[in-house]
Amino acid sequence: MSAPHSDHLPDRILQMHEQAVREMVEPRDGISPTPVTFLLLCFFFTAWGGYYIADNPGAWSGMEYNEKPATASTGPAVAIDPMVMGKEIFGACTQCHQADGKGVAATYPPLVASEYVTGDERRLAAILLNGINGPFLVNGATYASEMPKWRDYFQDDELAAVMTYIRNSWGNKAPPVSKDTVAKVRAELAAQPNPWTAASLAEFSAAAAKVKGESK
Ligand code: HEC
Repeated sequence: MSAPHSDHLPDRILQMHEQAVREMVEPRDGISPTPVTFLLLCFFFTAWGGYYIADNPGAWSGMEYNEKPATASTGPAVAIDPMVMGKEIFGACTQCHQADGKGVAATYPPLVASEYVTGDERRLAAILLNGINGPFLVNGATYASEMPKWRDYFQDDELAAVMTYIRNSWGNKAPPVSKDTVAKVRAELAAQPNPWTAASLAEFSAAAAKVKGESK
């Protein structure tokens, strides 16, 4: 590597300059290659980041973004706790029914100790899918307001989760609701998407009870 020794003065001056330049790297024009150590560090941290996310996925299940899971439909197992998901979705309801489920006197009915919440799950699904246009009697008080429909906002599993949540909060106790139940009611109501009145809901729920009686 060492340059051939030369006594020729210009050559020696050139050599000395080359040495000086090698020892003190001056900023130069042009592009210098990215240091290999830096590239290795980038690879290392990217790989470590990927590993870290895979190792600590939290509730971020690999199934979650799989629209058509190949094996997930073999049972009612749900990756996310419906009570956790339901509580999150219930955020859409607190404005009227309040976080404690007690509602607002004379304006928004309570979900606590309501027969509509803990009773027939199909009727509850029907209420959430289509909404209600009052007047509506809950626990002896009449509400003449409007309950929005949620069919376009939430999917079956989300509605099932919020139903499960309100059926098992604030002292309410009722079996969880599956997304299949919601899907069935949604399909039944495809041609009947208008908000319920007290009368039309009672009709639906009587017919539903009959269907249930026949199929079981
Ligand atoms: C804009 C206000 C509002 C929002 C938001 C709302 N509701 Fe209601 N809800 C009502 C009203 C008002 C009624 C009574 C029907 C009426 O007066 O037409 C009602 C009735 C109900 C009923 C049947 C009566 C009872 O008290 O048991 C249930 C169950 C219910 N809502 C659940 C929910 C759930 C779950 C959500 C969130 C996904 C929700 N509501 C969001 C206003 C609302």
